[in-house]
Amino acid sequence: MTVLNRIAGQLTFGIIALLWGNLAFAQGNYPKHVILTWNQEPSRSQSVTWRTDSLALAPLAQLALADDTPMNPDLKSVIPRVLQLKDVQNREYYYYSVTFEDLLPGQTYRYRVGDEQGEWTGWNHFSTPDKGNEPYSFLYLGDIQNDILNWGTRAMRAAYAKAPHAGFMLFAGDCVNDGHDAGQWNDWFRSLGHIPEVMPIVPVTGNHEYDDLPGSEESTLSLFWNAQFELPQNGPKGLEESVFYVDYQSMRLVVLNTMMALNSEEDLKIQTDWLESVLKDNPQKWTVVSYHHPLFSARDGNHGDYPELRASWQPVFEKYKTDLVLQGHDHMYGRGSRQYQTINVPQGQAGPVYLVSVAGPKMYGIVPERRWMDRLGLNTQFYQQITIDGGKLEFRTYTVMGELYDSFDLVKQENSYNRFLEHISSDSHPENLFPGGAYNRKNAK
Ligand SMILES: [Fe+2]
Repeated sequence: MTVLNRIAGQLTFGIIALLWGNLAFAQGNYPKHVILTWNQEPSRSQSVTWRTDSLALAPLAQLALADDTPMNPDLKSVIPRVLQLKDVQNREYYYYSVTFEDLLPGQTYRYRVGDEQGEWTGWNHFSTPDKGNEPYSFLYLGDIQNDILNWGTRAMRAAYAKAPHAGFMLFAGDCVNDGHDAGQWNDWFRSLGHIPEVMPIVPVTGNHEYDDLPGSEESTLSLFWNAQFELPQNGPKGLEESVFYVDYQSMRLVVLNTMMALNSEEDLKIQTDWLESVLKDNPQKWTVVSYHHPLFSARDGNHGDYPELRASWQPVFEKYKTDLVLQGHDHMYGRGSRQYQTINVPQGQAGPVYLVSVAGPKMYGIVPERRWMDRLGLNTQFYQQITIDGGKLEFRTYTVMGELYDSFDLVKQENSYNRFLEHISSDSHPENLFPGGAYNRKNAK
């Protein structure tokens, strides 16, 4: 099969005649927006996606077990799936995706992507998670959304610098402000720099990943979402790649789509039923759930409270002893496990611990009467590192300057709730609040 025929065979959609016209420009097409994600089991697979502005002649991804030698004896080559995408301004992009399969757990691989007839990235490393009891960690960031390059950059890079060997970086929605805007996704990738080439990303949809297409009044998921992220297809039908779960070592990570759940009672029920099914049949020791709109909210301004989500999901989290719930949307920091729970948890223990966090520059204030959180932070950019070591989970929240702002451990106990060890409490440590001290918990009542 000739190179040209091979490419034609891989095209998912697009106008073939138009593509042939682009071939003359295929040289010098350095891969952009290279990103590691998973659409299968992390210990056995790794997906990688990249894009070019014009069609690559012979796109290819290559893989080998990494060692110290700069030799290529056992390279595995994988031909990518190719997707042509037009943005709202009619600019064309070509996306390439591969999933490296049959990998070994606990190994470091090197890979590169590019074009046999053109340019390649350098060799990068990724590591598959261990199947045993090795400690591991991951990073969690709240909304970036606005002024991404200016302010998102330092949060993403501070997080990476804190834990460069973390298993992945999770974004709890609103990565950008306008989901169909190519420039904002460009900024997001520029802010991340090389991080997604070496650390898998787990993206969660927020309300701002949904956007109106020109001439339409209906919000649709970002044009770029399915093109640039290879994500699991194990969610409910129609919500693949925005509702899914990933089993990472001893943790089941469940991702939900609150934008769609808030669409209608029926849409919420679909996700609730699916959530129950993946928590009921869950062999993992730890359970972490992430989605965008929080179950509890004390933010000022509009769009603060979602009782329908709370009514549907809180009982499921409590019933199946979810450990952590990672949320966004409120543009502040909050951590709480004591208030509003409908279960009876003894002192010193915790049921589901709810978090909201923010990594970007947009900040909201708090309505004191609606405070739900035990630990609060306002007007501060944060990132979180979560480390799991056997039966212990260490949750650490840092400000973008590297100050340890919140810190607690969860310890698994047989037939009981987690033991809860709080290292920084709002009663004994000052809280970062809005400028001018508009709110102070101590005199709130
Ligand atoms: Fe949001």
